[in-house]
Amino acid sequence: MRKTLAFAMGFLSAFFITFPMTGCQKKQENNDEGLLLGFSQIGSESAWRIGNTKDIEEQSVNYGVNLMIENANQKQENQIAAIRRFIAYKVDVIAFSPIVEDGWDNVLTEAKDAGIPVILVDRDISTDKEDLTTCLIGADFYNEGVMAGEYLIRKADSLGLDHVNIVEITGTENSTPMRQRQAGFADAIANDERMTVLESIDGDFLKSRGAECMRYLLDTYKDEIDVIYSHNDEMTLGALPEIESAGLVPGKDIIIISIDGGQEAIDVLKEGKINCVVECTPKLGRELMETAIKLKAGEEVDSVIHPIEQVFSDEMNPEDIAPRGY
Ligand code: AHR
Repeated sequence: MRKTLAFAMGFLSAFFITFPMTGCQKKQENNDEGLLLGFSQIGSESAWRIGNTKDIEEQSVNYGVNLMIENANQKQENQIAAIRRFIAYKVDVIAFSPIVEDGWDNVLTEAKDAGIPVILVDRDISTDKEDLTTCLIGADFYNEGVMAGEYLIRKADSLGLDHVNIVEITGTENSTPMRQRQAGFADAIANDERMTVLESIDGDFLKSRGAECMRYLLDTYKDEIDVIYSHNDEMTLGALPEIESAGLVPGKDIIIISIDGGQEAIDVLKEGKINCVVECTPKLGRELMETAIKLKAGEEVDSVIHPIEQVFSDEMNPEDIAPRGY
């Protein structure tokens, strides 16, 4: 049987878990057996991730869902430990954003054996085992890569370029967005003979790594670089000052393509220093709460839920872009 709320609060604070009090109070008023959702977040590596955590917390309150949320500080072992605590606590539903795709079979088999449904949020896993998870709520990262590649082809056409040298700063190795954004972009430009990828380098979705990667790329290729394709805004924002320090003008001397669409990157797009930002929305909380509620009620859920996303670029009037909210 689930432990009492008083005991739960002690247990939760021992593991640094946030428990939104409004949701908790709603549960007590309406239904003592209300939904308890354990969510393991990757970390706080980007404005995207912080916006995603905030959205999930806010939506848990809106839906009256009791949320146990743990921040794994970019470590897979912390996520595995968090999932084990959720199992021990007998939550109704587990959700997590896997930092990488491999290495989840054991802990997810434990969740399955305990009869707790698992929702993947944002990123996917790679496994040969069946039925370890119920569904994935997250972006179509492959399509994001395709949209970035298609923008670049249009841009090269509009500038009349006959050769385009690209450097790619990728996200965390073996993560779903890294693999799929790379594949979608590569496929989109594959038949365009003007395009050459000089190098792909791992920036781990971090601003500091974006700057380091850019310094290395400028040292190695300096005047040869026509395009930077960066897998997230954070790395792009780290790279831009390095380009300026090298005496080049981002957005003019080098075409800058980013992914996410946080407010800071959109403001830089409005200044003309970023040419294109493919949207990746962090607002997955509403779908997460609705899916968790259905699972608790024993209802069927869609196996994949992708939000609709768009492209922000110098092809549009950037002043028309509405505030992003994160
Ligand atoms: O998984 C989504 C990616 O993770 C976002 O693009 C990035 O900013 C975040 O860190």
